[in-house]
Amino acid sequence: MSRVAVLKGGRSLERQVSLRSGARVEDALARLGHDVAAIDVGLDLIDRLREVGPDVAFIAMHGRDGEDGTVQELLEILDIPYTGSGVLACMRAMDKVLAKHLMTDAGLPTPEFFAFSETAFRELGAAAALPAIEERLGFPIVVKPSSQGSALGIRFAREAAEVPAALVAAFSYDSRVLLERHVEGRDLAVSILDGEPLPVVEALPRDEPFYDFEARYEIGRTDFVCPAELTPELTERAQALALDVYGLLGCSAFARVDLMLDGAGELSVLETNVIPGLTETSLLPQAAEAAGIGFDELIGRILELSAQPAPRPA
Ligand SMILES: Nc1ncnc2c1ncn2[C@@H]1O[C@H](COP(=O)(O)OP(=O)(O)O)[C@@H](O)[C@H]1O
Ligand SMILES: [Mg+2]
Repeated sequence: MSRVAVLKGGRSLERQVSLRSGARVEDALARLGHDVAAIDVGLDLIDRLREVGPDVAFIAMHGRDGEDGTVQELLEILDIPYTGSGVLACMRAMDKVLAKHLMTDAGLPTPEFFAFSETAFRELGAAAALPAIEERLGFPIVVKPSSQGSALGIRFAREAAEVPAALVAAFSYDSRVLLERHVEGRDLAVSILDGEPLPVVEALPRDEPFYDFEARYEIGRTDFVCPAELTPELTERAQALALDVYGLLGCSAFARVDLMLDGAGELSVLETNVIPGLTETSLLPQAAEAAGIGFDELIGRILELSAQPAPRPA
């Protein structure tokens, strides 16, 4: 039995999801016999951690702070072991532009893209380069903020006239945005647990001919199929690719890799989530379930895998 601090909430835009993930993790840990203390992450985080004195911290936070290495860094300073990936892997995965450069460099498929900072637009006149990018990528173009989260700030620009507004929307979430080639195809996710890929999940919009991007993210408008209906060969390729990305970014314990499968049967990687959702409807728990791993067992295994803080040079 361990004393476990469950870190949840925080200031990220995915706070509500995190509270749900956290509550579920607390219940599972309690059922596993651990001594659980919940911490809603805020200004008093360090005080609370010192008060609780946990053997280990279970980070059930999504997006900013929890998934980008910030909280991990603080836990290392306090010498508290924590679940999931280390600081560097978090930084690589959370930053889509960095992760895509790393994948491209390593020869792993990710949709072609161009990235800009806000200053490139304001001070370097980057807007003048848009027509060349549009010609290169073709329409629709996917415009998204570099730092990730629940499809927030993502727009599909169908024509040149829609690009500026899409950029403004994305810049309201992050000072860096990317314009990405649109992949027409199926939305897949492969979760990894302890270096092993779980069954593939497919997200299927319910009213296919009419759906637009916003609709597909409304509650109840998407069905999840697990295991996804794929040939064994494609399943294996998707899992191998996800595992490659997991290794490339240096992830630990668990992660979820989001992929697209195009009409020609080619896979490409959109992004990696180092702390994917752990709610009732989240993809990692569903994938684990399909592999015969119940939620409590999943949480127990993630806890067991939590590393000691990495030694740092003095
Ligand atoms: N290049 C793309 N082509 C087609 N669909 C995309 C593309 N990029 C994103 N999407 C859609 O948007 C969703 C969210 O994008 P993703 O890059 O995973 O960001 P988030 O961090 O918000 O989950 C994807 O699951 C997919 O449905
Ligand atoms: Mg995603």
